[in-house]
Amino acid sequence: MEGMTNSAVALADTAAYAAAVEEASRAAAAYYATGESALDDDAYDRLARGIAAYEEAHPQEVLADSPTGKVAGGTAVGDVPHTVPMLSLDNVFSAEQFATWTASLERRIGRPVAAWSVEPKLDGLAVAARYREGRLERLITRGDGTAGEDVSHAIGTVVGLPAELAEPVTIELRGEILMTAEQFERANTARTAHGGAPFANARNGAAGTLRAKDRAYTVEMTFFAYGVVALPDSGETATALAELPHGETLTYAAGLGVHTAGETVVAPRTLATVEEVQARIEEIASLRASLSFGIDGIVIKADLAADRRDAGSGSRAPRWAIAYKLPAVEKVTRLLGVEWNVGRTGIIAPRAVLEPVEIDGSTVGYATLHNPADITRRDLRVGDHVMVYKAGDIIPRIEAPVAHLRTGEEQPIAFPESCPQCGSEIDTSEQRWRCVRGRDCRLVASVSYAAGRDQLDIEGLGATRVVQLVDAGLVKDFADLFALEREQLLALERMGETSTDNLLTAIDAARRQPLSRVFCALGVRGTGRSMSRRIARYFADMDRIRAADAEALQRVDGIGKEKAAAVVAELVELAPLIDKLVAAGLTMTEPGATPPPEPGEEGAEGADGTADGAAGGETGSAGGADAGPLDGMTVVVTGAMTGALEKLSRNQMNELIERAGGRSSSSVSKRTTLLVAGEKAGSKRAKAEDLGVRISGPEEFAALVAAFLPDAV
Ligand code: IVH
Repeated sequence: MEGMTNSAVALADTAAYAAAVEEASRAAAAYYATGESALDDDAYDRLARGIAAYEEAHPQEVLADSPTGKVAGGTAVGDVPHTVPMLSLDNVFSAEQFATWTASLERRIGRPVAAWSVEPKLDGLAVAARYREGRLERLITRGDGTAGEDVSHAIGTVVGLPAELAEPVTIELRGEILMTAEQFERANTARTAHGGAPFANARNGAAGTLRAKDRAYTVEMTFFAYGVVALPDSGETATALAELPHGETLTYAAGLGVHTAGETVVAPRTLATVEEVQARIEEIASLRASLSFGIDGIVIKADLAADRRDAGSGSRAPRWAIAYKLPAVEKVTRLLGVEWNVGRTGIIAPRAVLEPVEIDGSTVGYATLHNPADITRRDLRVGDHVMVYKAGDIIPRIEAPVAHLRTGEEQPIAFPESCPQCGSEIDTSEQRWRCVRGRDCRLVASVSYAAGRDQLDIEGLGATRVVQLVDAGLVKDFADLFALEREQLLALERMGETSTDNLLTAIDAARRQPLSRVFCALGVRGTGRSMSRRIARYFADMDRIRAADAEALQRVDGIGKEKAAAVVAELVELAPLIDKLVAAGLTMTEPGATPPPEPGEEGAEGADGTADGAAGGETGSAGGADAGPLDGMTVVVTGAMTGALEKLSRNQMNELIERAGGRSSSSVSKRTTLLVAGEKAGSKRAKAEDLGVRISGPEEFAALVAAFLPDAV
């Protein structure tokens, strides 16, 4: 605060002084209560300096509620000294800068760094948690690094920071307190329910919550430890700790019952070479969007105590560690308006129109808004400054309005009173609003979807044709396609003999599409291509799918309680359409799939003699299928396919995998058993290599599943 006294608010008289005290107290109160003050940091500092100057000149006028002593005087908050300074980190922003840094560190210690520890840089607030004989005694913020604020009142609201450790040690844990995405959501729900303004992002939420005392409600946060330091009376533990490699320090903390990043996909790793470190940096960067907590970089540390000791520390940051910063994925922009779009199933979904903003290498102009209740809950208004998040290929989303930037000019978001597509009434009984005409509202869209390449694959039936058919009153649902007559088509504009015959042939061919595609064509909410295949393979025929209750549906891999109930309800709704499709002669069975055992047969230990052991088993994916070469395997495809597989779309590749008994997936994880990597395979291949997942080329894979290849190819 000193050294900048030239920029202070000038206070001319007692009245101006009193007004300034009031404004500063209000801002300070808001800051401590919510983390968001009406004044930005700089404006607050100028005001506080003006007050201090006035008080110095008029000591007899000092008001009791002047904030000066409390903030700058250093007597009230923020004055618990740290035993060992809480240092910051130096930053690098590219692979080159990182290489330069490692080289200079190795020059300094005169040898290569023996091992590196690589972990996420957690985007929260640094705290020190003091444990005496295993009991959590005090929680202190980083403050200025030498002394911090006592925030022990937050003890008990922080997940991962136990009141008692597994061993009665006297140590200090250092780490970051943050809100996970879920905690952030819950915090904002609680705040708005209590009439407060939502937090703009998880970090602000954690900052505000950590400082807030005496709130009418509590919100939960999460602690991640990244270091352990000895306290003056740590005894033998101190000596032992000083010698531990960094990686083992974290394992030790986890063993005491403290939360670390150890159980996440970005878990700290000890690596030997700078190349390995660089690969892991890229991997963590690519995993960022999938994490439920915010990271703003990767921290790389020399793992061994000897290397750290020889490197030493500067006054601001250690020389043995560096933060590799990732680009910002959050930006503030303006909410210009909201569009309401009607989806294929009649769902009316809001979409935010934003003032275009550059985030993480791309321009963001729209963001999803889920549903009207969500808009209300988050108290969004047109004209608001909003915090927008985007990472990787995730659809951008609005975190929250930046409430303290409101001018009063913001307008409420208008909800549609009738369906924006067809003008019918809106069914608002569920969170997601829906046109009462349901999929009829988007008849053209739903018929086009059903005829699409990954569903019935009816060539020559593009959207323009569908519009013609719908306008002519020939098609009221996609089953009507199968009743179309030659003369009816010929009577349409731009329909000659050849195109008519071609279209009729294509429609007829669709009768032979397997059940999985017919089911997918129904457009049941929450069942896309791969889920449709799983359902079709599990139940093997349409009658069994229709007879299934929610409990039976849940045996299909990936179907939870909620989805099962929704699918059952929707199939009831679709019954007339399905009846029409059956009557039109469409395929209602899934080739190669064996039905699951009838109820009551499950426990009969193979008594039925038809189903193999896998039928009705836990995976469900290959539930009713005969054993194939990919039985029990989870397969991911990446890169361009060649040879026998060259012409297959990704969807057809997934169909092939599932016909051969496997489960197809789009992302590589620990559960992946095989990666089929074609040309130009990128990050998925790197990840599979890292996880030790088996990798095969298109030729090798084609040979493995040769018996299941479609005839057409
Ligand atoms: S080590 C002496 N590890 O980033 C070593 N810090 O920008 C100091 N941070 O003050 C810190 N994740 O609050 C370390 N895995 C991590 C971290 C981490 C987040 C924070 C920490 C530090 C700040 C520096």
